[in-house]
Amino acid sequence: MTDHPLDAIFDRFITSPSIFKNHEVLRPSHIPDKLPHRDYEIQFLGKALGSALRNNRPSNMFLYGKTGTGKTIVSKYVTKYLRQRAAEIGKNVILSILNCVEVDTDYRVLARLCEVVGESVPFTGLPTDEVFKRFKAKLDSKKQLLIVIFDELDKLHHKSGDNVLYQLTRINTDLKKAQVSLVCITNDLSFKETLDPRVRSSLSEEELVFRPYNAAQLEDILGERAVEGFNDGVLGDGVVSLCAALAAQEWGDARRALDLLRVAAELAERSSEERVSEVHVRKATKQIERNTVQEALVSLPVQTKIVLWSVYVLEKSELKVITTGDLYKVYQELCKSTALEPITPRRANSLLNELSMLGIVNTKVVSMGRYGRTTKVSLSVSPREVRNILVEDFHIKKVSDFTADHLLEKN
Ligand SMILES: Nc1ncnc2c1ncn2[C@@H]1O[C@H](COP(=O)(O)OP(=O)(O)OP(=O)(O)O)[C@@H](O)[C@H]1O
Ligand SMILES: [Mg+2]
Repeated sequence: MTDHPLDAIFDRFITSPSIFKNHEVLRPSHIPDKLPHRDYEIQFLGKALGSALRNNRPSNMFLYGKTGTGKTIVSKYVTKYLRQRAAEIGKNVILSILNCVEVDTDYRVLARLCEVVGESVPFTGLPTDEVFKRFKAKLDSKKQLLIVIFDELDKLHHKSGDNVLYQLTRINTDLKKAQVSLVCITNDLSFKETLDPRVRSSLSEEELVFRPYNAAQLEDILGERAVEGFNDGVLGDGVVSLCAALAAQEWGDARRALDLLRVAAELAERSSEERVSEVHVRKATKQIERNTVQEALVSLPVQTKIVLWSVYVLEKSELKVITTGDLYKVYQELCKSTALEPITPRRANSLLNELSMLGIVNTKVVSMGRYGRTTKVSLSVSPREVRNILVEDFHIKKVSDFTADHLLEKN
């Protein structure tokens, strides 16, 4: 039998020991048995929601904290066990966690709530009021308690306003048999102020703040997951502490710490090494950064992509300093060539500011001596990366070879 070109690669997978014992354990969706350094939060939520086991409606609650501080995992952890205990004693407690990144309209919220109480409604089509009426009727057809957890509530609110929240905070006064409690989660610390004051006060009967983890706490969290997730002895000295320290640098984001550890181990495995070292962790930081930039670039709206492509084109030109004036000239030409309607300079500037907030471009106001002040623009990410991703776009493809030198006065 002749050798297959993939033999060497596949053989390595078969014969060399894997770094991972259980890859799933290192993914964000996994709910571990222990959540180090969240005892207080678990107890707090447990006490608040536990009153459901005694037929008392738990207070509505607000949970805040920066990203990666364990809000989602603690909620899942507590509800999972509460569901189990309620079932054991035959209590009608329904716990539903809505991820508001997906469930981001009033209709979707109500359709999901209908689904959890066993009322079927079409995916779209009915008036929202009608869906609400059906949900309320079905919910109140028996004695039961519904606890709705709105995870990342700011996303729903940003897209669809307070309407459904307002209705749900008032619903208990109309219900005869059933009751509803609401738990709201957000990592946007100023979000609460944007809510209608009536909604705000009924949602925050109780509040819990999740503090960022410090490096030592992150190390414990990673340590627990590592025991379940990796084979013995595959993590080199200092790997876990380096991941923890790097994630604690901005604030204690456990997601970042876990991602670093998982990606470092994947890189080690891909290069057929038997141990994960600090070098892999350093490489993982770069890869994670690259992935975030890629995601941000792919999801830009088309006008923002054209503005960004103008910056790209000018970076490739002979210009030493890119100003917003030149940028707009190029932008207009690009619109002509792609048959898009140009937006105003003012609007283009605000898209440029959005790109700057995403960390994709850098803008700086500079003095031009007697010519006054202008904004200097540059790319903050690699031009190659911008090109690779943007040329996938249908409009950008048409101007992929566009050059700007003919438009510019040299500076
Ligand atoms: N105490 C902990 N023990 C074990 N894993 C944890 C702990 N805290 C957080 N994690 C893990 O870190 C990751 C991020 O946590 P989580 O999703 O709960 O963050 P979050 O506060 O909801 O963040 P966001 O605001 O971005 O949604 C998850 O993979 C979670 O499993
Ligand atoms: Mg979350």
